[in-house]
Amino acid sequence: MCIVFFILFFAIPINLSSISRLHPLNSSKSDHQDTNFQKLNSGGPTDQHSEPVDQFPSTSPINCDRSHHNYDICSINGPTVLDPTVSTFYVTGPTNSTTLVEKVRPYPRKSENLTMARIKEITVTSGPPSPPCKVQHNVPALVFSAGGYTGNFFHEFNDGFIPLFVTVSSILPDQDFILVISKSRDWWVSKYGDLLRSFSKHPIINLDNDTATHCFPSASLGLISHGLMTIDPKLIPNPKSILHFHALLTKTFSRNHHPSMAIPPKTRPRLVLVSRSGGVGRVILNQNEVEKVAEEMGFEVKAFEPNSHTPLHKGFELIHSSHAMVGVHGAALTHSLFLRPGSVFLQVVPLGSEWVSEACFGKPAKDMGLEYMEYKIGVEESSLVEKYEKDDMVLKDPMALQKKGWSNEIMNIYLREQNVKLDLVRFREFLKRAYEKAKSFMDKEG
Ligand SMILES: *[C@@H]1O[C@H](CO)[C@@H](O)[C@H](O)[C@H]1NC(C)=O
Ligand SMILES: *[C@@H]1O[C@H](CO)[C@@H](O)[C@H](O)[C@H]1NC(C)=O
Ligand SMILES: *[C@@H]1O[C@H](CO)[C@@H](O)[C@H](O)[C@H]1NC(C)=O
Ligand SMILES: *[C@@H]1O[C@H](CO)[C@@H](O)[C@H](O)[C@H]1NC(C)=O
Repeated sequence: MCIVFFILFFAIPINLSSISRLHPLNSSKSDHQDTNFQKLNSGGPTDQHSEPVDQFPSTSPINCDRSHHNYDICSINGPTVLDPTVSTFYVTGPTNSTTLVEKVRPYPRKSENLTMARIKEITVTSGPPSPPCKVQHNVPALVFSAGGYTGNFFHEFNDGFIPLFVTVSSILPDQDFILVISKSRDWWVSKYGDLLRSFSKHPIINLDNDTATHCFPSASLGLISHGLMTIDPKLIPNPKSILHFHALLTKTFSRNHHPSMAIPPKTRPRLVLVSRSGGVGRVILNQNEVEKVAEEMGFEVKAFEPNSHTPLHKGFELIHSSHAMVGVHGAALTHSLFLRPGSVFLQVVPLGSEWVSEACFGKPAKDMGLEYMEYKIGVEESSLVEKYEKDDMVLKDPMALQKKGWSNEIMNIYLREQNVKLDLVRFREFLKRAYEKAKSFMDKEG
C-alpha cells in the first residue's frame, strides 16, 4: 500500500533533477526530440539541478542516467538484439573494441533495496558478438518490470502506469514502440489489456519466458517517476500533466466499451461510496446510516466495493459518470483518477494517517482539478478508542508516535486495526457542501 514507502519518501526529497542527461533514442524523430531537450537544458527551472550534458558522449551506443533517487534509465541508441534467455541486450551497431556493460533493474523504486532485489536485472552490452536475430522489429523497445508492488491497485498506477506515461511522454512522444516486460503476468495483462494497448498495439514481449531473439532499431530500459502519483509537466519536453493521463484513460475506456457509456440523463448528482469490508481495516462501520444521510442530502448513492476481479472499465464507467466520490484512505481511492476534473472527491482520513492521505490522494486530486475535501475523523470516531486508553499516545498524539518512524507495527495500528464510525451530525455538514459542489458540477457537465 501507499504507506510502504511513506518514510522513505518524506525523509529523502525526490531528486527533481532534469532528465536532460538522458539522450533521446536515435530514431527518425530524434531531431525533434533534440530540440526539445535543448530547450529544456537552456534555462528552465530544472536547469540548476542538471548535470553536465556532456557526461555521455553522444556517440556512445549505451547511455544510462543514474542520477535520480527513484529510478535508473538506460537507452541504446542504435540497433540491438535482445536475448531474453540471458536478459541481455546486445548492441549491434558500429562499435569499437571497448566492451561496455551496464546493468539496470527497470522499476522506479531504486532506493528500496528489498523491493529492487526482486526485480529482474537486465544487462546491456556492446562488444561481445550478438546472437543472430530471430524476430526483426522496426520500432524501438521499451523495457520495464511489472513486478514489485504490482498486485496493489495504488502501486499499479503509482509505480506502473503513471511512470509508463511519463516515460513515453518524455522519450518516445508520438512514437510507436514495443513493450518488453518482466513479470507480465496473465492476470495483469488481462486486467490492464485495454490500457496497455493504448500505449502500444504490438504484442508484449515477455522477458521471463520468451526464447526467441528479437532485434530493435533502438531500446530504452526503465521507467521515469516524478514522485507519488505525480506527473510534473516541467520535467517533460512536450509538457504533459496528470490531466493528459486522465484523458488517456477516458479515451481508452470510451473507445473499448462505448455502448455502456451511454447513461440516462441524471436528475440527482451521483455519489460513489467506496466501501471496504472484512478484516483489513478502514471500514465505515455505520455505512448504512452514512448512505441514508447522503440520500437525504439529495445524492443518488452507489456503493462500490472493488476487488482484484473488478474489470477496470466497470469502475471507470461508474466513477466517470458520477459527480462525487467518498471513501476512507486506502488503495481503492486510486479510483479517484477516474473522476472527471471538477467533480468532488471526499477523503475520510483516519487517525494518524494525515500525511499519507495527503501525499497519496490529496495532492494528486488537487493536481487533477478535483474539488477535493478532507474529513479528518475525531478520536471518538475511531475504533481505536476501544483498544487503547484515552491518554495512550496512539490516540493522544499519533504524529509524535510516528516521528520515531513508520514501522510495520505503527502501520498496523493506524491502517489495519482502525475502522471508523462517522459522526453523522458532523459528516452531514461535509456532505451538504459536497452536494452543492456536485450539483453545480452536474448542472455544468452533465
Ligand atoms: C544520432 O543521430 C545524429 C543526427 O541525427 C547523428 O549525428 C549521430 O551520429 C547518431 N548517433 C548514433 C549513435 O547513431
Ligand atoms: C570506444 O568507444 C567508447 C565509448 O563509445 C569511447 O569512450 C572510447 O574512447 C572509444 N575507444 C576508441 C579506441 O575509440
Ligand atoms: C542499499 O544498497 C546500496 C547499494 O548496494 C547500499 O549502498 C545501501 O546502503 C543499501 N541501503 C539499505 C537501506 O540497505
Ligand atoms: C509466458 O508467460 C506468460 C505469462 O505467465 C504466459 O501467458 C505465456 O503463455 C507464457 N509463454 C510461454 C511461451 O510459455
